[in-house]
Amino acid sequence: MTICLRNRQYLPDWGKFTTMPLPAPTHTLVLHGTAPRTLQAAPDQTLLQVLLHAGVPWPVSCRNGTCRRCIGQLAEGQVRYTVEWPGLLPEEKAVGCVLPCVACALTDVVLLGPGV
Ligand code: FES
Repeated sequence: MTICLRNRQYLPDWGKFTTMPLPAPTHTLVLHGTAPRTLQAAPDQTLLQVLLHAGVPWPVSCRNGTCRRCIGQLAEGQVRYTVEWPGLLPEEKAVGCVLPCVACALTDVVLLGPGV
């Protein structure tokens, strides 16, 4: 039996709480399109890394948020960007456009695309 309290675990064999880090939670990335997939995204993985690791043929070029080759659309969920100025207009962000090469999931996400 293991009891988890925030970032600590109680391990009965040891008889005390430890400060062992718990595994980072993952978010679900649901890809809609011609070949729907459900993938797991770690908080420090970009959506593009998750897609390519799963063998999803997603268009990519610069990988730094400037060329817009990887653009997709977020149907649900929230992301954070690894760069301060991803190449999207505020109006594009408002309608759900996302650059998977520099976006990490903050919640479970549903992604449409590529090439939106
Ligand atoms: S690959 Fe260039 S913006 Fe994503």
